[in-house]
Amino acid sequence: MTNNNLQHIAVIMDGNGRWAAKRGLPRNAGHKKGAEVVIETAKAVKELGVPYLTIYAFSTENWKRSKQEVDGLMNLLRQYLDSNFEELEKNDVRIRFIGERGMLDADIVNKMENLEKRTISNRSLVLQIALSYGSRQEIVNAVRRTAQKVKNGELAITDIDENEFSQMLYTAEVPDPDLLIRTSGEQRLSNYLLWQLAYTELFFTNTLWPDFNKEELKSIIENYKTRERRYGKA
Ligand code: IPE
Ligand code: IPE
Ligand code: MG
Repeated sequence: MTNNNLQHIAVIMDGNGRWAAKRGLPRNAGHKKGAEVVIETAKAVKELGVPYLTIYAFSTENWKRSKQEVDGLMNLLRQYLDSNFEELEKNDVRIRFIGERGMLDADIVNKMENLEKRTISNRSLVLQIALSYGSRQEIVNAVRRTAQKVKNGELAITDIDENEFSQMLYTAEVPDPDLLIRTSGEQRLSNYLLWQLAYTELFFTNTLWPDFNKEELKSIIENYKTRERRYGKA
């Protein structure tokens, strides 16, 4: 039996729409319940002593959903930025956002920056929220920034290595996830943290995100601890 160190959990919270449909509710009712589960999950991860949590809240591809759904999600986000994240803030949680901010409304970006500044010294948990996030876009942006540094004479081509490149990603300074959890039974990455997940242990559960809870999280962590992480070694 192994007992793997667990520093960082990444989550693809999926199944809000199906949760709502099962109850004859609009999709946005699923997002509302799903957002409550985000707060509960962050508190649970903190209590379990895991220092980093990264959640996939909205992908670059999710902009293609109906205006009604996107507006509903953005208004839910505004509400959380205005008051619902307060509980985490008081719980010593640092919140940071990763993703393409240029696509978001200016008032939302302002609120995000304020929350990031207010929580910057919190130490019990770093909660990264992937919002308007796409991994390929993140990697392309990192390539552009690297090329610019070379062009400016600040970086030699021979000094570009995995470490240097990681620092160009949104997740610079954050260790790679040890465990990825995707809810709702889908078994794919949907353009999430493609670079960072290179050696992550993957866990898929049929539970729909609004039904996810601390008990299930604990049992997934128990499963994780039994896995043999070989990193290519014999
Ligand atoms: C995940 O739930 C939340 C977001 C992608 C914003 P979905 O909205 O994808 O729910 P399903 O997959 O349609 O059930
Ligand atoms: C992935 O879920 C994105 C988020 C959870 C925010 P999707 O529901 O958008 O993914 P696909 O479309 O099923 O791959
Ligand atoms: Mg989905």
